[in-house]
Amino acid sequence: MKANHAGQPTGAFGIDIGGSGIKGAPVDLIIGELSAERVRVPTPDPSTPKAVAKAVAELVDSFDLPRNLPIGVTFPAPIVHGVAKTAANVDESWIGTDVSALIGKHTGRSVFAVNDADAAGYAEVLYGAARGVRGTVLLITLGTGIGSGLIVDGVLVPNTEFGHLQIDGKDAEERASDAARERHSMSWAEWAKHLQRYFRTLEDLIWPDLIVIGGGVSKKHDNYLPLLRLRTPIVPAGLFNNAGIVGAAALAARAGKGARSLG
Ligand code: BGC
Repeated sequence: MKANHAGQPTGAFGIDIGGSGIKGAPVDLIIGELSAERVRVPTPDPSTPKAVAKAVAELVDSFDLPRNLPIGVTFPAPIVHGVAKTAANVDESWIGTDVSALIGKHTGRSVFAVNDADAAGYAEVLYGAARGVRGTVLLITLGTGIGSGLIVDGVLVPNTEFGHLQIDGKDAEERASDAARERHSMSWAEWAKHLQRYFRTLEDLIWPDLIVIGGGVSKKHDNYLPLLRLRTPIVPAGLFNNAGIVGAAALAARAGKGARSLG
């Protein structure tokens, strides 16, 4: 395994566990890009810990990886010392599961687990739309749920859960996620009203220097970002769908041996 001048690996493997798919690829950490085509397998249904861990192990085994290559895995829940604490959009049996240990056991490797939006935010700061931005960067992923990643001067503040901010008596993700837009067949303008309310609340509470929008719908930003009136600059993600994979790989490499998660 190659290392840079600080002794950190220059390559790692990233895995993004989502509600519908599990994606993984080796990552070149010098440029923040996938160094081989990513592999995607459907998330098992029901998405129990054992079934998902088996699918992840098969995915990892489909690559010929050095034994000591750092492996990072994202998960759509707060991950505190490796353990999933909630399960808003995945099988409830994940609550209390040590994600790092479970995936580590099934892959036979040392695994670092991190919240999906934290990984994406970290990748955007290192290699994407927030590269070189000083101060407070807030990444918000608009997908099945809403995820948040808060990075202050390059340091990740883990496990913010701003998708569950209460707005007008409801979880923000119930109205402002991309899934909510689809579920209620909202026009872009209707959805933008919910986004406006959500982002205005966030900027009043956090005062970020930059907001980055992630998730698949970030590619369609022309339809809704111009409708928002915010004081904070707001831009689409630079890494699009690969941000989770890249961020998980980067965090795993940085953590080195022994560290299994943040938090
Ligand atoms: C979860 C977060 C996650 C987000 C995006 C939310 O429902 O609580 O932990 O980051 O969905 O997947």
